[in-house]
Amino acid sequence: MKLFLDTADIAHIRQINEWGVLGGVTTNPTLLAAQGGDPDATWEQILAEVAGDVSLEVTALDADTMEEQGRKLDAKGDNVVVKLPMTPDGLTAGSRLAADGIRINVTLVFSPAQAILAAEAGAYCVSPFIGRVDDVASDGMSLLRAICDVYAVQGYQTNVLAASLRHPMHVVDAAVAGADIATMPYDVFTKLVTHPLTDIGLERFTADWNELQRALEGKAHA
Ligand code: E4P
Repeated sequence: MKLFLDTADIAHIRQINEWGVLGGVTTNPTLLAAQGGDPDATWEQILAEVAGDVSLEVTALDADTMEEQGRKLDAKGDNVVVKLPMTPDGLTAGSRLAADGIRINVTLVFSPAQAILAAEAGAYCVSPFIGRVDDVASDGMSLLRAICDVYAVQGYQTNVLAASLRHPMHVVDAAVAGADIATMPYDVFTKLVTHPLTDIGLERFTADWNELQRALEGKAHA
């Protein structure tokens, strides 16, 4: 499962990219608004930094304008994936773009039925929003499992991109469910690496090593 950052913050992207495990980035209008500034400039910075897929989202609501925006976004780089919402217009624009070989990410997916539609439209990936399902007292991970099962049974090639992940266990459970990609905020990504036993273990290794060095220095001066 590839690990993506769900952010428009270039400093965070650069930091995680240094770890050598960043598979790609997803952005959305809310993340760009939080970042501020010119979205085109932000997208270009991200595309210059990240080798993997970067999802850029259309903002129009009608199919023709979505398609036009999608073609402009696609032209920004080879690693662009055009993100469109799961609406009738989004499907219309998305299937036109997909028919021309443009990779699309169908977003705001909340049911297996919508995921089937995305696959039939030729989507490169589909984004079920796990955390937002949990937010309304339902089970986001059950939704993800159902989509993975349907895709496996049907042999759909569309990648399942687990989105709206809120904590490390969401990421682990998405991997167990068979998601192809997990996208998460910076704070969730950084939590993946930390464990108190790692810190305690490293502290002990360092202390023991330093004690050995002191003992060796003592012998050398004796
Ligand atoms: C996915 O591509 C979305 O940008 C994102 O995961 C939404 O997450 P949120 O529910 O935390 O806003």
